[in-house]
Amino acid sequence: MFGSLKALPADPILGLAAKYKKDSNPKKIDLGVGVYKNEAGQTTVLNCVKKAELHRQTTEESKVYIGPTGSDLFNSEMAKLIFGSEHKVLAENRARTISTPGGTGALRVAAEFIKSCKAGATIWVSNPTWANHNGVFEAAGLNVKTYPYYDYENKSLDFDGMLNALKEVSSDDVVLLHACCHNPSGMDLNKEQWQQVADVAKTVGFTPLIDMAYQGFGVGLEEDAYGLRLMADTVKEMIICSSCSKNFGLYRERIGACTIIGESSTAVDIANSVLLYVVRVIYSMPPAHGAALVETILTSDELRNEWYRELAEMRDRINDNRKIIVDKLVENGVTQDFSHISRQMGMFSFLGLSPEQVQQLQDDYSIYLVGSSRMSIAGISQANVDYLASSIAKVL
Ligand code: LMR
Repeated sequence: MFGSLKALPADPILGLAAKYKKDSNPKKIDLGVGVYKNEAGQTTVLNCVKKAELHRQTTEESKVYIGPTGSDLFNSEMAKLIFGSEHKVLAENRARTISTPGGTGALRVAAEFIKSCKAGATIWVSNPTWANHNGVFEAAGLNVKTYPYYDYENKSLDFDGMLNALKEVSSDDVVLLHACCHNPSGMDLNKEQWQQVADVAKTVGFTPLIDMAYQGFGVGLEEDAYGLRLMADTVKEMIICSSCSKNFGLYRERIGACTIIGESSTAVDIANSVLLYVVRVIYSMPPAHGAALVETILTSDELRNEWYRELAEMRDRINDNRKIIVDKLVENGVTQDFSHISRQMGMFSFLGLSPEQVQQLQDDYSIYLVGSSRMSIAGISQANVDYLASSIAKVL
């Protein structure tokens, strides 16, 4: 049976991490996978997480099944984090949140749920989008189409192109939007643009699916959820996939959430029963550990404040790195304009190099970027930025 299989290439993002690991060059730089690194290049466990783990170790009483929904406390805390505790969808009891194995798990559950609503539904994703979006949606049998988003030429948003395309989608379709810190471009919608997209969603009647993998990595926890909250205020039905991988640094614990908003409390209960069936037939129930840590942090004033500080530290370092690399490129005599990097948000920006130049950076300088020239900004440090800027200058 296996004999008919053809080997597939490694995942473009995860495969890069494996190559980096094998590289023995002491000057190597990893700007590939979207993982936060501190100034020393390490991805350490957050202090608030360490403390929550100690707490869990002493208070956990059972490993019995938790059911497809996951932890109710985690789910309600996540809903408050996403919407803010005063949002009308919570007051109207129109949202249901379930725990999922990471943000990717949330996306796959959402995709299967969409398929249950309409087999072969079309989902529109931004051009470009996270490399795995297409795979996750296609694996669930959805039809994936793209709307214009990033203007590579001007290194800005093609907002007119985006809006015009969204006006033409069908009311049966789903449109995926990145809540903040657009992956891979770092190019986010401003408040006015969110308003226009929300108005189009309402007029056209498509279902928004908002992917929020980086809440707190852009401007702040509240600011980064602005567009999502506005959309939830505007439309009747919506899906949200969120992740605790980056903002809680819980990557390998695989903890995220899938939230659905329905037209009424009764309607969303029916939809939620379908969502739970989807979970049951894929993985039965989510892992519990990451959810227990997040709920412990969010329900303790002390740990929550510590988390705010640690999150702000990660965000500030990334934003500082954005400015540092732009300055260093100028210092190294690069005349091409890279100022877009300092205007963009979150973990990533495009350098705007050709695939050949990206390959040359890898082969000649041990600098690892995804082929699209997406750069994970957290991989930059005071120690490597001169080497990075001079290598980019040489390649250019
Ligand atoms: C990324 O885009 O690098 C991250 O979201 C990690 C991943 O799973 O691809």
